[in-house]
Formats: sequence, structure tokens, C-alpha cells
Amino acid sequence: MSKIFVIETKNTHYAIGVDERGLVRHLHWGDKVDKKDYDIPAIWDTNSNYSDLDNAKLEYTVFGGKLYRNCAFKCTYADGCRDSVFLFENAEETENSLAITLVDKAYDVRIKLHYLFSKNDDIITRFAEVINDSNASVMLDRIMSAEINLPTEKPYEIQNMNGSWGAEFQLETTELKTGSVNYESRKGTMGHTNHPVFIASQNATEDYGRVYFGALGYGGNFKVEMTRDYRGMTRGIIGINDFDFSYELKAGESFVTPKVYIGVTDGFAVMSNMMGKFAVENIMPKSFAKKPLPVLYNSWEATWFDVSVENQLELAKKAKQIGCELFVMDDGWFGDRHDDHQGLGDWVVNKQKFPNGLNELIDGVNELGMDFGLWFEPEMVQRDSDLFRTHPDWIYHYEKRENSELRNQLVLNLTKPEVKQFVFDCMDKMLQKHDIKYIKWDMNRPFSEIGAENLENPQELWYRHTMAVYEIADKLKEKYPYLQLEACSSGGGRAELGALEHFDMVWTSDNTDPLDRLTIQKGYSMLYPTKSMRAWVTDWNDWCRPTSLDFRFLSSMQGSLSIGANLSKYSDDDLAKAEKYISLYKDIRPTIQFGDLYRLASVRQDDYNATEYVKDDQAVLFICTGADSLFNHQFKEIRLKGLDSNAIYSFDIDNKHFEKSGAYLMNVGINQCLGTPLECKIVVLKKLTN
Ligand code: DGJ
Repeated sequence: MSKIFVIETKNTHYAIGVDERGLVRHLHWGDKVDKKDYDIPAIWDTNSNYSDLDNAKLEYTVFGGKLYRNCAFKCTYADGCRDSVFLFENAEETENSLAITLVDKAYDVRIKLHYLFSKNDDIITRFAEVINDSNASVMLDRIMSAEINLPTEKPYEIQNMNGSWGAEFQLETTELKTGSVNYESRKGTMGHTNHPVFIASQNATEDYGRVYFGALGYGGNFKVEMTRDYRGMTRGIIGINDFDFSYELKAGESFVTPKVYIGVTDGFAVMSNMMGKFAVENIMPKSFAKKPLPVLYNSWEATWFDVSVENQLELAKKAKQIGCELFVMDDGWFGDRHDDHQGLGDWVVNKQKFPNGLNELIDGVNELGMDFGLWFEPEMVQRDSDLFRTHPDWIYHYEKRENSELRNQLVLNLTKPEVKQFVFDCMDKMLQKHDIKYIKWDMNRPFSEIGAENLENPQELWYRHTMAVYEIADKLKEKYPYLQLEACSSGGGRAELGALEHFDMVWTSDNTDPLDRLTIQKGYSMLYPTKSMRAWVTDWNDWCRPTSLDFRFLSSMQGSLSIGANLSKYSDDDLAKAEKYISLYKDIRPTIQFGDLYRLASVRQDDYNATEYVKDDQAVLFICTGADSLFNHQFKEIRLKGLDSNAIYSFDIDNKHFEKSGAYLMNVGINQCLGTPLECKIVVLKKLTN
């Protein structure tokens, strides 16, 4: 009864076989081959220590029988049995989907493996669904979104965006020769340390070499574990972290995992551009995905908590003068909030700071011709707040434990329906009474003392909390279709695809040093779309590593340009320069936010950064040197990519005008002498039509 299913994307095949025993076997992921050649290899116990199941490449390995390697699924049945036997039951195929159902007949529980794909790209969306058709509960102990099988016995280089607060998105590579490499979060959100992604390759570059990758659409506790076994096979699992996780699936219920988007390409550039476009087309909220994001001003680094109608309006006037389209007031506008010790939870306008309410400021901003946005940190409460005084039991807690604080905050138990409703209401009330077009949703601490006495199975809290955040964000967007949402978590703690399924953009780091930011932006660009990356021009690092305003702008213009500087302190010359750059950004915005991105050189590897964006008849090149002098390596030939070889491009650089063919620019390149540290240039190339 063996069967073969072939998923066909634009350039690739993903082949699955069902063997005589009913095991769902992984056959191939890569270039297309003749479909009739697919075969299901025999498997057997190599010796008494390595079983047939250990040797098999399975689409979704379950824990049970003589399996001793990693698995994607583990459960406990009501009678205490922790051994699963899931075998093929049936498959449903359409032009763009495949769903394979496996059944554990002894317990009447099914696992449905979903695959969604199209001929427009090489991304396959995968997720798993468990359906409990029995009349008893099943405890899910581990349920991954997907298992990944990679071809060849040779070791892979596994990349992830690692880091910490203020140093997010540092790309690191580990050669996986033996054992496992594990990336995860146990904090409640993704956090700053690792990303829920895998990038596996062997000597690949931006342009060449096979790259297998995947990114999870889930920003709660996650796990990515890549393993290389005794015979050299590399496998991976990706999904919700099973650490402190279990989920009780009652009779008749089903559980659907988060989606994971996987793909295979040649080179990292194709990977990034394909994933970026796929996210805009298929993942991000529809209301703004295909619209360019406005240039925003955020007053956080200008006024910190000390906000008032006067100082915000003063900044708003300057923001308008330089061309900003949206004015966002950050932390400090609510409750008794004067620093980070009190107020979270009291989402009412502070009367001392805004004696006539918030509309005075919002009207002022609107009259200037800008939209208005507001900051919230809705999942949090502080002891010194009316909310905590009224509802001390609304936080995660245990009766006999003292709650730990981080930034003087406690985490609200969003798994309680009344708390979830409160969180929605606090933003809804503000939106009802004010013309607020934008919410920056912040989240500044990991969970602790994770008691949720309301839950029958408290280990569901991590998952349920994340889903509650997504549900509230979706409800807000449904009620206010014009509302734009930004996800922030102490900088980049929520800058991942799970957030991007519900929020329109993310904040990648509180580190706004423009040179550090180039490295952060590179890491972000690997798997996430450029347009979703807010990038502020600030004065933040003036005391430590001063950079010119030009450098700060040209760094931030490589994402969704935003301004976070204290404009009140800007000279007329600086304001004029800012205005000039914002106006230029508006011209090139479609190319930056929606174009193809080429990472030509990066500060960490090449001493300088060169990034190119190409869309239709325009290409934009940014060149920025690092902080060190380039000594003898200042002569650079910067070869562009993605141009039309036969077309002529016109551009200016170093006050000289050029007209060169795409072939010349891509093969010979632009000669540059880059001797000075922290030097920067932008080159806008226009394709001439004749
Ligand atoms: C952390 C964020 O990352 C900052 O941008 C800012 O919003 C502060 N929180 C406000 O407290």
C-alpha cells in the first residue's frame, strides 16, 4: 500500500512516502526530479542498539517503541501509556495543499500534518494538528510544528540570530558535527537571545550554495533543535518549547500548532528576499502589509517619562517641519507614571501632564498634518498602581512565593478571561475617545512565579498567554481597521514572525547607535521583511561614539525610517539636513521597503557596509564604513547585484555624474576609496529608458 506525495513549489520538490507499515517517510527536499523515480528506501535495525525508527527519516516522529532519537511529538494517554504509534490513515490533496492524517488506532487520536505551498515561491507552510476523537483526555507533552530532514551525511553550518538586550540579531554560525544545537526561549516571549528559526547550509554565500531554512510564526517559548546522528543524518524540530509545557486535549478537541515557513534556495540573498516577500504577501496583517510605512517620530529619547502637552507639541512641530508623517508619544502619559517604578496598569491619562486630556495634544498633532500614536505596555502591572491595589490576584503568582520583580514590574495573568478583557478594554477605551492611529505595544520583562490557579493544567499558561496577546491584537485591528500596531519588547524581544502575523512592524533593538544598528539590521534582514523594521535616527550614542547626522540617517534609511532624536536641540542646519534626508527617503521608500535586498559587504566581515535595494527602475546603494580606519584596504570595487545587464543606469557619486550599464556595474563595479571611519554615502541609480 505504499504511496508517494510530491509537493511542487516554483523550483523545488518536497517528497513524502508512506511505506508498507504505514510510516510516513521523508524522501526528498530540494531540486525537482522525475516523479516516477521516487522510491521508499528499506529501513532496518542496524544492530541491537540502533533501531529501524532511529534510522528512518520520518515526517513527524512520535515518541514510542524502539525510538531513541529526538521526536516531534510526545503524549500521555488517560491510562498512563506514553507510547505512541501513529500510522498513515489518509491524505487530502489540492493544488496548493496536502494534509496527511496519521492515526493511533488504539486510542482514536489523530495527527494531521499540513503543508501549504504555491508555484510562486519555494516556501512551504507547515503545521500539525492533533485531533482527539476518543472519549478521554490526552496530555500533549510535546507537539512541534514540524520536523525537518536534511539531505547528505556531511555536517551543516547552522546559523541563528543570537544576542542580548541592546545587541540583538548577531548572526552566529555553529558547525553541527555531532550531538545537537538548541535555540530556545523559556521567558514567555522570544526574548533577545535566540530566534525561532533555522538556517542550515554548507559553505554557502550570499549568492551560491544550498540553504535550508525555516522561521516559526510564534513568539512565545519556542524551541529549535538541530541534531546530527551517529550516521551523519541532520534533522531538526521547530515549534513550541516543551520545557514546562503540556496541554490537556479533552475528548473531541483539537490543537493546532503555530505555523512554520520553510524553504530551500541557493544563497542567502534569495532566501532573504523570498521570505521577505512571502511575509508581506502571506503573513503580515493585510491592512498595511502592502502599504509603505509612514516616517514616524517617537519622543521617548527626547523627553523620557517627562511628557507634557507643551513639550510634545514642540517636538511635533519640529517633526512636521522635517517631514514626519506620524507622531508617537511613548511611555509616561498615564497613571502616576514619572519613572519606571509605578503606574503600569493604570491606563488613564495623567491629569497633571495633560490637564485638558489627551485630545489637546492629538488635535494639535492632527492640525499639523500628522497622525498620532501612543505607547502601552498592556501585559504588565506595578505594585504601585490602582490596578494592583484592586486586583492583586491578576498576576501570575503562587500563594507561598513572593513575586520577583524586573524593572519593578509584574506580569498580568492573561489566561484569565477577565484580565484578557481588561487588557483589550484599556486600549479600546483610549481608541474610542481619541483619534489614535498607532499603538506601540511594549513588553519589558520575562515571566516568573508562573502560577495560574485558574487553569486546570497550569503548564498551558505560556502558550495561552501568547495566544491571548495575538487575540487582543487581532481584535483591535478588526475593530479599528486603520490602526497600525508595533510590537516591541525591551527592544527586539518580540521581533519575530509570530508577532508579524498580528503586528504591522517591530522594534528591533533599544540600541540605536547607527553603526551597531547596521549589524542588527543585517541579522534582521536574514528572514524578516525590511519594511517591518523600525529604525530610529537618535542622538543616543553621542557621548560614546559620536557619528554625523548623515551617518545616522543613512543607517536608519535602510529600514522603515523613524526619528527618535531630541529635535528641540537641533540647529536649523540639522533640521534642514533631516528634512532633506526624509524627503529623499520618501522618494526611495518603495524600493527600500519592498525591493530586493543585497548585502554586498558587512562591517563585521569587510570593515565596511554596503547594502543595495532594487525595485523596478530604481536601485539604492548605501555605503558606510566602520569605526576603524581602513589602513591599506581602502580601495573597494563595489559590485552591484540584481540590475538589468543591458540597461543603462544613471547616478551621481562623489559629485560626479555617471551613466553605466547594469553589466558594468555588476561585473566591474563602482570604485571607491573608503579611508575615513564612519563615512557614509547613498547612491540612487535610475534605469534609463530609451
Ligand atoms: C522599552 C522600549 O524598547 C523603548 O523603546 C521604550 O518604549 C521604553 N521601553 C519605554 O519604557
